[in-house]
Amino acid sequence: MCGIVGYIGDKNAAPILLNGLKKLEYRGYDSAGVAILDDGDIKVIKCKGRLVNLEEKVDNDTPGGKIGIGHTRWATHGEPNDLNSHPHISNSGKIAVVHNGIIENYLELKEFLEAEGYKFVSETDTEVVAHLIDYHYHGDVVQAVINSINEIEGSYALGVLCRDYPGKFVAARKDSPLVVGLGKGENFIASDIPAILEYTRDVYILEDKEIVLLSDKEVKIFNNYGLAVQKKVFKVNWDVASAEKAGYEHFMMKEMCEEPKVIRDTVSPRIKDDNIVLDNIKITADDLKNIGKIYIVACGTAYHAGVVGKYIIEKLARIPVEVDVASEFRYRDPLICDRDMVIIISQSGETIDTLFALRESKKKGARVLSIVNVVGSSIARESDDVLYTWAGPEIAVASTKAYNTQLSALYLVALDFAYKLGRIEKDYYSNVIEGLKAIPGEIEKVLANRDTIQKFASQHYNAKSIFFIGRGLDYALSMEGSLKLKEISYIHSEAYAGGELKHGTIALIEEGTLVICPMTQDNLVEKMISNIKEVKARGAVVLAIAKESNKQVCKAADVVVTIPDVDSLIAPIVAVTPLQLFAYYMALQKGCDVDKPRNLAKSVTVE
Ligand code: F6R
Repeated sequence: MCGIVGYIGDKNAAPILLNGLKKLEYRGYDSAGVAILDDGDIKVIKCKGRLVNLEEKVDNDTPGGKIGIGHTRWATHGEPNDLNSHPHISNSGKIAVVHNGIIENYLELKEFLEAEGYKFVSETDTEVVAHLIDYHYHGDVVQAVINSINEIEGSYALGVLCRDYPGKFVAARKDSPLVVGLGKGENFIASDIPAILEYTRDVYILEDKEIVLLSDKEVKIFNNYGLAVQKKVFKVNWDVASAEKAGYEHFMMKEMCEEPKVIRDTVSPRIKDDNIVLDNIKITADDLKNIGKIYIVACGTAYHAGVVGKYIIEKLARIPVEVDVASEFRYRDPLICDRDMVIIISQSGETIDTLFALRESKKKGARVLSIVNVVGSSIARESDDVLYTWAGPEIAVASTKAYNTQLSALYLVALDFAYKLGRIEKDYYSNVIEGLKAIPGEIEKVLANRDTIQKFASQHYNAKSIFFIGRGLDYALSMEGSLKLKEISYIHSEAYAGGELKHGTIALIEEGTLVICPMTQDNLVEKMISNIKEVKARGAVVLAIAKESNKQVCKAADVVVTIPDVDSLIAPIVAVTPLQLFAYYMALQKGCDVDKPRNLAKSVTVE
């Protein structure tokens, strides 16, 4: 939530900052701003609304400075308006700050600073940081930032400009992501790599409570005691094109179309001579025998992947699994011990609740395996073992390809554990591996055959409320289908277990209510057909997602979207794509901003 950038070099800072913010807009888009040091003065330009508003303002009055910081906001404290937009500047005009995170003790600090004579103009927590650094500033801005962060409680990625430092600026982080980009005669900071990828592939990934002093030629890193820190350069290996739209109308469509490739990238390198080899994860059969329980912890779409994970790990490996929403898990004093394993799932690797759940698990002695997309992210760095999903950068706020790769990774884990424990036969193990290898081709067929979904969406996009029902793995899938629809089309939707509907929720079904039924589980098709009959008897219009060979479904549902005949166990990886397409076309028909839905941000780095 919120994206920050910073630049120092020999070029005009304004266009570089705006360009970087464009790549970070998925992190927040309530308002945006830049602060540029020009001719001994800090010039702040900021405004409410999308980045185009800021671009217009900057175009009308472009500052000429070669050093600056920028921000794109997802509001936490204070409504989105011009005054609450970042950067915030101290009363003296000496210090300007951009911030991603939440300053938890800001009221206390505000009271103190007001008593010292500082006047606050915004409702944000960030403004205290600008005044606090100003308060601690006596000629050494690094020291002022160190003293300030030692008093701040909460999370932050900060970019700090000081009027007295015409050739330098400062950045710092704790619990919010920040990278430093290393150029030739220029250096950068950014919340995420795509913002600087056009300029450099060499980055430093900052650790908590590290402070950076950047000039055009040099980057110095300190810890919060002011001691110098040495860091290894991290080489980014993805190309600029993967973070661009490449001719697609929306990132979401581009990312769905990438699903076959990214699943292949996630699965193929882990299959060697018909066996699953999970990178450097050294979990032996003995380790597995000693595991008491597995907890899967994540948020949102990643949590829904975790629900699929529970079904398949329990089914194949016969280890009990609990799935938890990270924000609940971390505060419920979970009964984890050192015999347990925690699987953390996160696309960004920076979701604050998930990161804190990881820390809580480690504190209690559990072994943490994370399934993460972003290399070098906080969750990846703090886990005992990491299994990367090679989905590449996911820019659309609604997660699509990352989910399919999270599922693929979970299937690899479940199969590996089950085989090592001797709970499945070699033939079965090999068959499922073959099935996984074939998934990319099956999704290509689904993507090529999306007319039915598009047509259905064009007929029903005015729906007020839509229900998703499914049984077994299809219930897990329904949760994800429903979330995707809600977040980008703003249509109210609920996901229910097929058998649970009649225990209350069926009262909401009336003439014309849409019900979406994923039906990929062969042993549960009959039961689902009964559920379809129940809702149709009350006037529902039913769209089913079913395997090609399943002719029974055609008789029961109003419209059927078919997927190829894949094994029921791995069907969710294929069947989620039609649900994602459905959400996409519904949102498109409604004229919604598909890639940047209202009130949301891609990476949730606040609680
Ligand atoms: C929904 C979506 C979110 C994320 C959730 C966790 O489309 O993208 O629900 O799945 O915020 O994010 P990560 O996976 O980055 O931890």
